[in-house]
Amino acid sequence: MLTSGVAIITGAAQGIGRAALQRFVRAGARVLACDLKADVLEEARAVSGQPQSVRTLAQDVTAASAPSDALAAALDAFGRVDWLVNNAGIGNAKPAEQTSDAEWDRFLDVNLRSAFRYSRAVLPRLEPGRGAIVHVASIFGILGNPGSAPYAASKAALIGLTRQMAADYGPRGIRINAVAPGVVPTQLSQERLSSDDYYRRLVAEPTPFPRLGRPEDVANAIWFLCSDEAGFVNGHTLVVDGGWSVTNYVPR
Ligand SMILES: NC(=O)c1ccc[n+]([C@@H]2O[C@H](COP(=O)([O-])OP(=O)(O)OC[C@H]3O[C@@H](n4cnc5c(N)ncnc54)[C@H](O)[C@@H]3O)[C@@H](O)[C@H]2O)c1
Repeated sequence: MLTSGVAIITGAAQGIGRAALQRFVRAGARVLACDLKADVLEEARAVSGQPQSVRTLAQDVTAASAPSDALAAALDAFGRVDWLVNNAGIGNAKPAEQTSDAEWDRFLDVNLRSAFRYSRAVLPRLEPGRGAIVHVASIFGILGNPGSAPYAASKAALIGLTRQMAADYGPRGIRINAVAPGVVPTQLSQERLSSDDYYRRLVAEPTPFPRLGRPEDVANAIWFLCSDEAGFVNGHTLVVDGGWSVTNYVPR
C-alpha cells in the first residue's frame, strides 16, 4: 500500500541519501530533500521517479538555521512531516594523533550535532503513533577500525543518541532508530577503496557475500524503519553490512 507521508532527508543529493529519496518516493512519500550541492540535488529530484513529490533545499546542515529552514520548507510544501532521515555525513577521517581540533569539530558538527539539531526541530511536529527518525550511523560506530577516530566517535555517539531518544520519545509513540551500513561504494568511500589497498583488504574483502553493499540496500533498511512494518522497532541500530561485522571471514 502506498503511503501519504512526508520525509525530510538530509544529504539527499547522492549516494545513500539519493537512494533513500528514491525509495521513499517509490513508497508514495513526498520528500523535502536537503543537501549542500544544489545542482546534484536537482539532478536527484529529476531522477527520483516522481519529481513532483520532491522539494529541494540547498543548505549546509551545520548552519544555525538549517533545521528550522528544512522544517519550514517541508511544512510549506506538504503541510506535515512524518519522518526525518539524518543522513548527511562526511568521511575519510584519520587516526587521533593526526586529527586537528578543527577536523574533530567538523566531523562532530556534520555527522552528529546536525542529527541532534534536526531531531530537536522536527520532533514537536511528528505525529504520535506514526512519526519516526532514522539516524545514518556506521559499522565503524560499533567496531574499531584503523584511521577513523573522529568519524567513529561521531557514529558511536549517534548510536547512543538513538537509544537515548528512543527512551524519551518512544512513550509518545515516536520511534527513533539507526542504520549502520558497512562499506558501500559511494563518493564518500570510493576514493579510499580504490587508492588504499590495506583499507580494501580490511573492509571489503572480509565480507561473506558475493558483492559489496549498494546505496539501495541501506535505503531499503531506512524505509523499513520508518514504515508501519517496523511499528514496534524502537532504539534499534540495523546493521547493513552483508555479515562483515558478525563473522571472521577470510576469502579463500
Ligand atoms: N558509503 C559508506 O561506505 C558508508 C558506510 C557507513 C555509513 N555511511 C554514512 O552514510 C551517509 C551517507 O554517505 P554516502 O556514502 O552516501 O556519502 P556521499 O558523500 O555520497 O553523500 C553524502 C551527502 O551528504 C552531503 N553533505 C555532506 N556534508 C553536508 C553538509 N554539511 N550539509 C549538507 N549536506 C552535506 C553531501 O553533499 C552528499 O550529497 C553518511 O552519514 C555516511 O557517514 C556511509
